[in-house]
Amino acid sequence: MSTTCSAQGKIILTGEHAVVYGYPGIAVPVELFTTVTLTDDSPTLNIIFSGVKPGVNGEWYVRTIVKLCEKTLDAPVTGTVTIQNTVPLGKGMGSSTALVIAVCRCLLGEDCEVRAREIEDAVNPGNSGLDFAVIWHNRPVLFRKGQPTEFVSLPADILNNATLIDTGMPKETTPEMVAWVRERKETLQEPLRTIGHCTKRLLGGESLLTILPDHHRAQVALGVVTPEAQALIAEIEKAGGTAKVLGAGARTGGCGMVLKLPL
Ligand code: MEV
Repeated sequence: MSTTCSAQGKIILTGEHAVVYGYPGIAVPVELFTTVTLTDDSPTLNIIFSGVKPGVNGEWYVRTIVKLCEKTLDAPVTGTVTIQNTVPLGKGMGSSTALVIAVCRCLLGEDCEVRAREIEDAVNPGNSGLDFAVIWHNRPVLFRKGQPTEFVSLPADILNNATLIDTGMPKETTPEMVAWVRERKETLQEPLRTIGHCTKRLLGGESLLTILPDHHRAQVALGVVTPEAQALIAEIEKAGGTAKVLGAGARTGGCGMVLKLPL
């Protein structure tokens, strides 16, 4: 017997880091999938990644989620867990939360929202809940920490002609980036407020094309955009486009995915 469940990746349009402090953010699901299959074919637990191999950390991450599910089930999980993934790993598109949700759905059943959220908090400490909200509901969300998630309807063409640019794998994890911003949050009030205000502008009907430059500059002020990604986005802006880093960003290494929109 086997069970298959999946979850999609996400793009944060506005709100990175600011959502951790109660500012509003908007995120949309994207057609990239994490699919988890549990096959009842072994007395022990095997974890197989088909396609992209995430390395030892990836296997450890899945084993940790499975262990937390076992606590809920009060029984060991046995068989083969196969993971197929098209969400870029560790690049700000929700791969770690999509894995939590897909594994929990597969092992605990589709109505596992409360426990899946607890497991998300255990494996991704310090998260705001935005990634979980958009990936769980698989709909565009207006998120404000501590308040019920709202669903938003955005212009259907909002991401028409958008492209994703892969700037490489950040050296820091999302929890590390969130913790680093938190350490300095007293001095970062202005960029955090600006990012929150970008969400309000989007809700008010302003185009992303005029919002993204301010959002990007606020992310730079937070210190989460590497010099290389800043140079790339400066080139894009010089050529008449606009862009921002998706997700937590980075201090060193790649800066994950950059969302680029043409003018
Ligand atoms: C990560 O995808 C988005 C951050 O705002 C962290 C969070 O909201 O949990 C950086």
